[in-house]
Amino acid sequence: MRLSVYRKAHFNAAHRLFNPNWSDEKNAEVFGLCNNPYYHGHNYDLEVKVTGEVDPETGFVIDIKVLSDLIKDEIELKFDHKNLNIEVEEFKTLIPTAEHICWVIWNILRKHIPEKFDLGVRLYETARNYVEYDGL
Ligand code: NI
Repeated sequence: MRLSVYRKAHFNAAHRLFNPNWSDEKNAEVFGLCNNPYYHGHNYDLEVKVTGEVDPETGFVIDIKVLSDLIKDEIELKFDHKNLNIEVEEFKTLIPTAEHICWVIWNILRKHIPEKFDLGVRLYETARNYVEYDGL
């Protein structure tokens, strides 16, 4: 019996989309409001999906408490109320778009979730805009 367990999480963070190889004009044109030099915030919603076989002894795919603690310790503590460009190491060399944030989160979680599980991460930057990465 193979199925998926989901856990939702949330963090607030500031960012600025900026490509240092481009002129200010091109950055403003491509990134619009997200290029504001004084930064701006988003309320990010996160959905983490773990897929695997149900353990016949527990009836769980994964203990959701273990998963929620992992998200809290490894993602929320690292991202919540942070300026992503300045305070999060990965974004010193990576533009903090929703795509890149989702990819960074997936890679952090992947290190802590046993290989036998498939992992998917969906990140909402707004209620209508979201990205998803499943490692493929
Ligand atoms: Ni933005």
